[in-house]
Amino acid sequence: MKKILFAASEGNPFIKTGGLADVVGALPKYLDSKKFDVRVILPKYLCIQEKDKTNMSHVTEFYADMPRGREYIGIDKVKAEGITYYFIDNEYYFAGDNPYNQIFEDVNKFAFYSRAVLASLPHINFCPDIIHCHDWQAALIPVFLKEFYGNDPFFKDTRTVMTIHNQKFQGRWRIDDIENCRDLPADCRYKAMEAYKETNFLKAGILYADRVTTVSETYAKEIKYPEGGEGLEGVMREVSGKLSGIVNGIDYEEYNAMKDPVLAAPFGLRNIAQKKKNKEMLQKELGLKPDKGVMLIGMVSRLTEQKGFDLVNYVMEEMLTTMNVQVAVLGTGEERFENSFRYFQDKYPEQLSATIGYSEERAHMIYGGADAFLMPSQFEPCGLSQLISMRYGTIPIVRETGGLKDTVEAYNEIWQTGTGFSFANYDAKEMLQIIRYAYDVFQNHSKDWKMMMKRCMKTDHSWQNSAAKYEKLYLELAG
Ligand code: ADP
Ligand code: GLC
Repeated sequence: MKKILFAASEGNPFIKTGGLADVVGALPKYLDSKKFDVRVILPKYLCIQEKDKTNMSHVTEFYADMPRGREYIGIDKVKAEGITYYFIDNEYYFAGDNPYNQIFEDVNKFAFYSRAVLASLPHINFCPDIIHCHDWQAALIPVFLKEFYGNDPFFKDTRTVMTIHNQKFQGRWRIDDIENCRDLPADCRYKAMEAYKETNFLKAGILYADRVTTVSETYAKEIKYPEGGEGLEGVMREVSGKLSGIVNGIDYEEYNAMKDPVLAAPFGLRNIAQKKKNKEMLQKELGLKPDKGVMLIGMVSRLTEQKGFDLVNYVMEEMLTTMNVQVAVLGTGEERFENSFRYFQDKYPEQLSATIGYSEERAHMIYGGADAFLMPSQFEPCGLSQLISMRYGTIPIVRETGGLKDTVEAYNEIWQTGTGFSFANYDAKEMLQIIRYAYDVFQNHSKDWKMMMKRCMKTDHSWQNSAAKYEKLYLELAG
């Protein structure tokens, strides 16, 4: 039995701001429990819901010497769907109503977290064969492991995997200001951890980890070049021998149109016509005009530049005034995007609904009720929303980048193949053109549209295949 520890800053169902939480919450369940004892370790944020906190039991507590003095580390745990979750408790670091605050606080917070993870393991008597570290927040684990525990017999067989979910976020800050890194050797702090005269957590993790993965094959290529590398393209090329791309799956239990309690009318391949009822319900819920002939486009997303909202903004007026479409947006993020959706909602209340906020329930309603799902990302390491939409027979309209390129097959009207509509260049007019094409198929070739819905629902983006790839990787490393 190989022991695997997932270390990450978020994980479903306890704390989620994006796709990372979906991955951390789902992948452990899909690894073969006969071969792998997989556990997850997360920060115990103050903002975790009270109902989840009351289910946790206290395991132990201790103090560890760190650059700021003796720091308290409490360990709680809970079992969810067969997986043990540990939580690192420290009210000073994990306070606040959001897991992420100011970056200058966050670098210290997650340096503390990474140290605390390693310090905890002997106390809970769990000695992992693999620590699977996710994103920059856990990227210092491989660094502290080698620098502080290199000769510790407890960790002698422990290997590390670093998964990059988004290379844009690197955990950068002024080198001398990160207190919780101060005791690392100067050679490490000023060389391996340094990029562009700053500390760079992700770069350090990439260099120190035994293996590096990212969340799609295309993104694994893109990050080796300046357009996608976010300044770390040189490092990525340097480590290309240990870098691979493994595409994400989604939790087929959580996203299941046949059993989804949020849907007005659950449906499957056999009664796909039922989906219409969910559309009607969605229109009603959002105050959109009840119109069966309209093409309803959904968007559930962080409202950031990455997700292509510059393009959306640019053509929204034209879209709404030249086609019979409705738009249902759910998301939070940059104020300029939030405000522009508020503006369009005011101007076209029967056609556009903007829910500026975070709601699992509404997200499911949109995935279940919309006809199409728009995701014109500037870059996209993997993307889960397009996978979720396909699972609900909601046809994705995407830009061909990263995981979107790997998971959505462009519609071919001659061969009647494909699972969505896609465009190549980050260009608003090009996007509008493809939306018009989708609109034409929706309005004038409804049989073809319906067949594509079925193809979407039949594609397999469950975790099964990708989990097998992670298993292989773990076994290669852990012997
Ligand atoms: P990213 O991780 O870059 O934000 P992904 O497509 O990988 O993008 O994953 C986003 C996840 O977060 C999906 O599960 C999506 O449904 C969810 N999500 C994003 N915004 C919201 C929101 N406002 N309310 C509910 N769920 C959201
Ligand atoms: C990141 C990426 C997204 C990916 C998710 C989970 O947030 O932006 O593309 O799907 O992580 O890996």
